Amino acid sequence: MKLAVLVSGAGSNLRAIAAAIDAKTCAASIALVASDKDSAAALEFARARGVETAVVRPKDHADRAAWDLALAERVAAATPDLVVLAGFMRIVGAPILARFPYRIVNVHPALLPSFPGTDGPAQAIAKGVRIAGCTVHLVDAGVDTGPILAQAAVPVLPTDDAHALHARIQVYEHRLLPWVIDAIARGAIVLGEKPTFTYDTHFDAAAALVSPTR
Ligand code: GRF
Repeated sequence: MKLAVLVSGAGSNLRAIAAAIDAKTCAASIALVASDKDSAAALEFARARGVETAVVRPKDHADRAAWDLALAERVAAATPDLVVLAGFMRIVGAPILARFPYRIVNVHPALLPSFPGTDGPAQAIAKGVRIAGCTVHLVDAGVDTGPILAQAAVPVLPTDDAHALHARIQVYEHRLLPWVIDAIARGAIVLGEKPTFTYDTHFDAAAALVSPTR
């Protein structure tokens, strides 16, 4: 399964996908890494790996609609089977949604539908929730509103600030995102308006109970 991975930042999720591909636990290949910023560290990683890269910056386009179209065309030129938003910090527009119906996934650092948008971990800290986590979901026209494909939960510790919580969440993003991509490639997750799931779920009841130690 050919991927186009869209990034804006450090690219730790991109690295996790690449590592899983190399370890043969993710049946995919990366055809393109595209960014809205030429400074994204994720691009350096992609170039060093010999992966084709593209930078499509809003400021190089007349308006939002022109940028949306340019991004959609650049991504489509790589003929991906799946578009992965891995720390892509912009809302994708109608042109790319139309070209890849039910074929765009996003990783979000919160347990959706709680805490959509920016700063999921900071929102979780501010609300005082005791369980946080990450979500991989299908992208639709809303902000972090598409059908949920998989989630992982982590505890919020009393000493956490948003940074510490985000770091703990990211450990699980790096497992969940490659796993979901592989599940899609194997047909264990079938994408559509209402995705269907045929994978077995392992539930560790002991680990799921987060409580004070005494
Ligand atoms: C991740 O926490 C992801 O959930 C959010 O942006 C962050 C990107 O991190 N959408 P990285 O660039 O993959 O390191």
